[in-house]
Amino acid sequence: MSGPSAWIDVGAASTLASGGRLDAEVDGFYVAVVELNGVRHAFEDRCTHDGESLAGADVEPDAATPCGVVVCPRHGAKFCLRTGHALTPPAYEPLKIFEVRERAGRIEVLAP
Ligand code: FES
Repeated sequence: MSGPSAWIDVGAASTLASGGRLDAEVDGFYVAVVELNGVRHAFEDRCTHDGESLAGADVEPDAATPCGVVVCPRHGAKFCLRTGHALTPPAYEPLKIFEVRERAGRIEVLAP
């Protein structure tokens, strides 16, 4: 078990570099890690509209934020990848965002 504020290994950085997504459980949260324009983002894999997974969600640039968005595949809500803010209905609550870093080719997410 890891203590509070531990960095959790969630997978290989090369997976992100090739456009893949990493999924892991971090301190009871299902977390997804993606990379967009060379920047890594980790967010809770749970749309705040219906509470279901964001598996299959597009991650793309968006005029509303310089960081890009994750787009829920069900009703199209967009969330800022950096802040988690819900940018479009039908979601209004923010996504939970996690700190992410790379160590020796591995991606780590900070447990809250
Ligand atoms: S479930 Fe995500 S926008 Fe409705």
